[in-house]
Amino acid sequence: MSSPSRQVGNAHASAMGRQREEGPHEKVKILLVDDNPDNLVSIEAALESLNEDLVSARSGTDALRYLLESDFAAILLDVKMPDMDGFETAELIRSRKRSQHTPILFLTAYRNEEHLFRGYDLGAVDFLFKPIVPEILRSKVAVFVELSRSVQRQRKQAEILAKAELKFRSLLEAAPDAMLITTAEGEIVLANTRSDDMFGYSRRELLGQSIRVLVPSWTLNSYHVGELTSVCKDGSTFPSEISSSPLQTEEGLLITSAIRDISERKHAEQRIAEQTQQLHEANRELRHLSSRIVAIRDEERRRLGRELHDSQGQYLAAIKMNLEMIETTDAALSTIQKSALAEAITLLERSMREIRVISHLLHPPLLDEIGLQAVVPWYLNSFSERSGIQIDLDMPADIAKLPDQVELAVFRVLQECLTNVHRHSGSKVAKVKILPEETSVTLEVFDRGRGMNGQNGSEPVMGVGITGMRERVRELGGHFEINSNAGGTVVRAVLPFADQLGKQTVKLQSDLV
Ligand SMILES: Nc1ncnc2c1ncn2[C@@H]1O[C@H](COP(=O)(O)OP(=O)(O)O)[C@@H](O)[C@H]1O
Ligand SMILES: [Mg+2]
Repeated sequence: MSSPSRQVGNAHASAMGRQREEGPHEKVKILLVDDNPDNLVSIEAALESLNEDLVSARSGTDALRYLLESDFAAILLDVKMPDMDGFETAELIRSRKRSQHTPILFLTAYRNEEHLFRGYDLGAVDFLFKPIVPEILRSKVAVFVELSRSVQRQRKQAEILAKAELKFRSLLEAAPDAMLITTAEGEIVLANTRSDDMFGYSRRELLGQSIRVLVPSWTLNSYHVGELTSVCKDGSTFPSEISSSPLQTEEGLLITSAIRDISERKHAEQRIAEQTQQLHEANRELRHLSSRIVAIRDEERRRLGRELHDSQGQYLAAIKMNLEMIETTDAALSTIQKSALAEAITLLERSMREIRVISHLLHPPLLDEIGLQAVVPWYLNSFSERSGIQIDLDMPADIAKLPDQVELAVFRVLQECLTNVHRHSGSKVAKVKILPEETSVTLEVFDRGRGMNGQNGSEPVMGVGITGMRERVRELGGHFEINSNAGGTVVRAVLPFADQLGKQTVKLQSDLV
């Protein structure tokens, strides 16, 4: 090196040893300024064991040059130097910002007061008198080295803290929620930008405020996600979701609260609720409609049945009487005419029977008078006759008269089931079970047909029949179910007839008629 400086202090082994104990040992720089090279050598020798970077300068000018380039933990400055003496150098050192606070130790041979005053005036921290005692020099410098190192450590820690804080802040800023950090009492100590937008306060206004100004029902126990009402600066409120979590810090317990505006979600929920309500209403109306259809159909059948029986039946009976009268009078009828008359009477009798059956199927008059006890066997017989399906009936012979509405429902469901057995099942046999209990009656219709699921397993399309049965049973507060597989179908209807319900259904019917 061509510079007048020399760097000493590569005490390798001891440096390594220290590293192991304290972690990396970063050397600090010590500037030695003396015009006498011998002095420099002896100072270096005295300080070598400190294992720091020693930079030697032979003049004030050199020293100032080094001070431009590096920071030093301490400067050892000889007072008596040619050209620029120690005091002048110190004055310049102090005038520079970078070295304004660097400790200066003056080395002097003169113990005079004027020297001391001037030195201290210039910010000297100490004086060392020549001849220099190495131990004293070393221990004084060691103090400055330690001081400088601890300043460095503090600076580093401050940097780390600043970085962490920056990271934390940018995290807070990036959050989609308003983030507030409060004391345990709820005083806001930190707020992100989103908080300003959400509540309409400036950040400065928020700091020091109680979080309860924003969320009146906030409590210390809000360590959970909950829905609370938030209040803006203008007094408007919005529903919010708050999740808080405790944060133990050196300054005590802090609480981080993330506040999310859930107005949108609430609106969506409200819309869904409204739509669900509308759906329910539409459903109710549909049900009402279909129960009206069932009732109207019942009434129509009853009317048609009566009409056929009372009016057409009477006309046909009258015609039959007239024809029989002609047949018995001695009118001169040809043989052809006589046989035509006999045939007409036979056809008329058949027609009357059929009209009677049809009218009774439309509405069995016996149902109102005697009840299921009479109607079910009659109906099953005529059905068996017409369809060729053999039906086994399981019903107590002394079955009591049930409320009209319930009996009609049992009869209509039975009718629909057997019609389905005939039309769709392909079964040649069926079983009907009517089981009256204290407050309900159960009807079961079994067949051994192909079942309701088509050959490819497809669901059957529910027709008017099944829908009507289901609706009729529901209207009476009962239970309806179908179990069907490839071995056959069972339809089961349970109809309650508690007094209360009996009255209710009677009322319903009277509503409709
Ligand atoms: N006992 C049954 N056996 C087989 N399939 C049936 C039976 N009952 C009903 N189904 C099937 O269910 C469908 C719906 O019946 P339903 O609602 O009474 O209407 P519809 O009789 O007018 O077709 C029928 O078309 C048929 O495919
Ligand atoms: Mg049907």
